[in-house]
This record gives sequence, structure tokens and C-alpha cells, in this order.
Amino acid sequence: MADQLGDLTRTHTCGALRAEHVGTPAVLLGWVHRVRDLGGVTFIDVRDRDGISQVVVRDNDELMPIAKRLRSEYVIGVSGVVQRRSDDTVNAKLATGEVEVLAREIRVLNEAKTPPFQISEDAPVSEEVRLRYRYLDLRRTRLQQNIGLRHRVAMATRRYFDAKGFWEIETPILTKSTPEGARDFLVPSRAHPGEFYALPQSPQIFKQILMIAGTDRYFQIARCFRDEDQRADRQLEFTQVDVEMSFARPESIYELIEPLMQQLFKEIGRDISIPFRRMAYAEAIARYGSDKPDLRCGLEIVELSDLFADSEFRVFKQIVAGGGVVRGFAVPRGNSYTRSQLDVLVDQAKQMGFTGLIWVRPGEPPLSSVKAIGAPSLGAALTRAGASSDDLLLMAAGAGEATSKLLGQLRLHIAKKENLLDPETFTFLWVNDFPLLEYHEDDGRWYSMHHPFTSPREEDVERLESDPGSVRAKAYDLVLNGSEIGGGSIRIHDSALQARMFKRLGISDEDAKARFGFFLEALEYGTPPHGGIALGVDRIVALLAGESSIREVIAFPKTANAIDLMAGAPSPVDEKQWRELHLRQQK
Ligand code: AMO
Repeated sequence: MADQLGDLTRTHTCGALRAEHVGTPAVLLGWVHRVRDLGGVTFIDVRDRDGISQVVVRDNDELMPIAKRLRSEYVIGVSGVVQRRSDDTVNAKLATGEVEVLAREIRVLNEAKTPPFQISEDAPVSEEVRLRYRYLDLRRTRLQQNIGLRHRVAMATRRYFDAKGFWEIETPILTKSTPEGARDFLVPSRAHPGEFYALPQSPQIFKQILMIAGTDRYFQIARCFRDEDQRADRQLEFTQVDVEMSFARPESIYELIEPLMQQLFKEIGRDISIPFRRMAYAEAIARYGSDKPDLRCGLEIVELSDLFADSEFRVFKQIVAGGGVVRGFAVPRGNSYTRSQLDVLVDQAKQMGFTGLIWVRPGEPPLSSVKAIGAPSLGAALTRAGASSDDLLLMAAGAGEATSKLLGQLRLHIAKKENLLDPETFTFLWVNDFPLLEYHEDDGRWYSMHHPFTSPREEDVERLESDPGSVRAKAYDLVLNGSEIGGGSIRIHDSALQARMFKRLGISDEDAKARFGFFLEALEYGTPPHGGIALGVDRIVALLAGESSIREVIAFPKTANAIDLMAGAPSPVDEKQWRELHLRQQK
């Protein structure tokens, strides 16, 4: 039988008590974290979201039987007096570790079944069990802190944008498809047989329409839905800080977002310096083999093609003659790799997709995995890559962008293996001047690299039809430690250019009208130049919290195979609902 809460009123949270409270009465309300029965005395650790306090029951015939009844995760109310712990029981690891509450009354407010895992931090438990019993998992200190941090990030964001004159405006969840490149989630309409709403992949079209509507400055902490493969940094539904601003240039967006990031990092007590570095997409690919380079480590890729144009090594010579490249990077202290370590590295590179990876050890003469390359070219390549005598040079050859991207993957692989990515360092980067379009070989069509509302750079527009691959976009991504934490662009505000863009993407006038007709029409009624950005809240909070998966900063995430294990979603629906929604299952 549980006791009533009655008039028991919390005086302190379980994380609040300190030496200065000694002698004062206290009422704690929380969960039994742990009970230690030492015969004449019983210690009860009581936990709430704020921390843990020790309660002691000593020489008390009335309370002893109650204390003996307590099990982990029972909900209790304790009233007593704060006292100093004896020297041998002081716990320096606990904020409340100098004091304890001598109990005068304990009310058992609720019992609990034996939990499937211990709530204490170190107990190992599978992710499946954690997500199935998420309400227990969320009681753990680490997750409480993550969820609290997420709340503070949301509040700091709201304060920031409010102070800058941005209005928080909700956009529809039941709406029409917005093209962000993923599959839509569809919701069948009961009232309109055969018709569907789409859940928004982002509020993109609505925020642009708000600019047409004269809102001037909009933001929203918005939920987005994308039916795409799950990864550590991707969920089916995720949260963006979505922003749009009229009369914006890329610089206006950089200058808006950089101080926001400073504010958010203050939440973990870190000062970050602004402005952030900026780098064109082409440079990021050439030097780091990625459009979201992690700049915490060097390992910079260098161009070596000219050194091998006349090489005695025929493979390199032919690749360079055919317009390909030879590129590589120096691995710090890599000269100490043993022969078998190098063999493993070459195998790993092949698994990544390299046709070949060539290593070069500095020395007199330098030593390479390919005997045919002469010492002078090896020496020149080592010098170009800035390799010292302790380092190792890795080289690959092939088509330009593909070779750089493979080297970029290898660079990260080595940086992780060699612990070159300091988790305490935060390195931001704006990547801009993305190509507007990318060509997909499989269906022979051009696709938007961001979305079809992104503006091309004025000086490139004339090449939209003649040389689409060379057109650069007024788009930018914000990258932090190799993770894309935001992306945005200046938009097309001219309806004729927008129509041209749809055409370029192979979307017929008819199709464009059916999908975005309302938007194309709105564009014709005096659209101001505008632009914006969306930041990935889940990714930012995960980086702030030092978590490697965004699941650790989302209260109720889905598993890697898109299931809500706790609620049991997705789930079948009954026949009546199928009928009401005018749906039939395919045989
Ligand atoms: P984009 O698609 O780049 O841009 O998304 C913006 C940011 O949202 C985060 N993000 C995700 N986070 C978790 N799970 C996902 N599945 C996921 N997908 C994206 C990333 C990304 O940088 N409408 C445009 C923005 C704009 O142009 O203003 C958009 O949605 O951190």
C-alpha cells in the first residue's frame, strides 16, 4: 500500500544540499537509487533529475521497517534534517557528498517493479532494452543532462532570435511535399478519397512564403520528417532551427548564426571565437576530400599530378595524360608503421573503393610500395606533401573529385585511428560556393545539390543551360568537426528564374504547377530577395554533449531500423481504418 503525498512539500531537490544546509530541515521527493542496510543503520540514496542525496535511517524503530521495504526505483518522500556526514562516509564524487539527511519520516509514494536494468550509469545494457524502457533510461543522469542541455539550447535560441526581431511562426505539419531530396511520409485523407497530405521534409516553402508575406524575419524550432535510411546522425523525424530573412546576403546569414553558436556553446561553458573560417566547396574537396571537412587534424591532400606527368611509372603517367590526377597526403609519424600494418591499410583502402594505394617512406633513398617509381619523383612528392623523415606519404591516382573523396575518407579513417581528432576542440567552417546542380548517371538527369529554390550566383546564371555543372550556388553549409550542422542558401526570388530552374531539373511546367503552383504564383506578387538557413538541433546538441549518436539527445528516438520500440510504432491498424481512409492492401 502506498502512502499519500499529503502535505509533503519539497524543500530541496536531490542535487541541492550542501554543507551550508547543515541543521536545516529538508523534504526530498524522488526515486530510491540504492539502499544499503548495515543492520542498525540504513543508507538510502534518493535521486531526482537534479542529483542524488544520501538519506540515513539510524536507531529508529519506527522507520526501520519502512526502510527495509524499500527497493530500487520506489518513489519516496523523506522529511528530516540535514547533517554533516562522518569523515569516512564523505563522498567527494557527489555534489551533495558532504551531507546527508537524517530521516524523521519516510513516505512510500509508490512501489516499482524490479527494473530490467540498473539506473546507475555503469550498468551495461543493450540499446534495444534501453529504448524499450526509455522512461527508465531517461532517469539516468547522463540522459537527464542531455535532455536538460537540449532544453537550454532551445531556450537560448528563442531568446537570441527574439532579441534580433525574428518571429517564431508555426508552419503546417499536414501539408504538401517539399523537395529536400528524401522520400515523403504521406498521410491519407479520410475526407478526400485517394488524396494525401505529406509531412514536411522542412518548412522551406512556407518560410519563403512568409518572406513574400512581409514577415521579414522568421524562425521556428521545427520538426521535419524524411523517410530515409537511419544513421547515427539521422532520424526519420528530427528538429531544425529554421530561419529565413528578407534582403539577406550570405554574409547576413553568417553574421546572424555565428553569435548564436557562441551563445549555444556558452551553455557548456565554452568560448568559441568568431568569425568562422570559410572555404569554397571546390577547395574543401581538393584539400580535404569532403564537403564537410574535419579541420581538427592536418593530413591535407596535395596535388602531385605534375610530378608524375612524365613518370617512369606508366600507370601514373597514363592517368595524368588522360586528365586524371595523382594526389596524396602525409601521415604524421607514419614511417613507424610496420610492413604488415601497411598491408592492412592498403586492404582497408581497397574496401573503401581505392583501386590502389601507394605508400612512400622517406629516407635515402625513399622507399615505395611501387618499385617502378624513381627516387627523384618520390623525393619531390614527399617534399610537396611536407612529409618529415618520421612521416609516411600515401598516394592515389584516378579521376579528380573521386580520388580526392577517397583520400578524404582515408584521411578520416587514419585521423580516428591515430587519435588526431581532439574531442575537446571545436572547429567550425562555412563551406560555400557549392555546385548548384549534380548529374546523376543512373537516370541521366541534373538534380539540385541543395533544393530547387537555391539561387545560382549571378555571374554563373548564363551557363544554366550550356554548362550546368559549372554553375555555383549561393549556398552554404555550416560544418563543425566534420559534421554538417546546418545548411542554407539565398533563394531564387524571380519567378522566371525559378521556372527556368524547374525546367533545368527536368520538371515539366505541368508537374511544377501541380507540385509547386501555389508557390510559383506567390513568387509573382512582389517577392523580396531573401535567404536563410536550417540548423540541425539534434546534431548540435549531440556535439555539445559529447555524444556520438543523436539518439542520446532525443527523448524518444527511433531505432536504426525506424522503430519506436517503446510505443510499438509503426503498427497495424484495423480494417475499419483501412476502409475509412479508402485504402486497400496490395495482394
Ligand atoms: P538540410 O536538408 O541541409 O536543409 O537540413 C538542415 C540541417 O538539418 C540537419 N538534418 C538532419 N538531422 C537529423 N536527421 C536527419 N535526417 C537530418 N537531415 C538534415 C542537418 C542539416 O544540416 N530547407 C533547408 C534549409 C534551408 O535551405 O534553409 C534544409 O532542410 O544538420
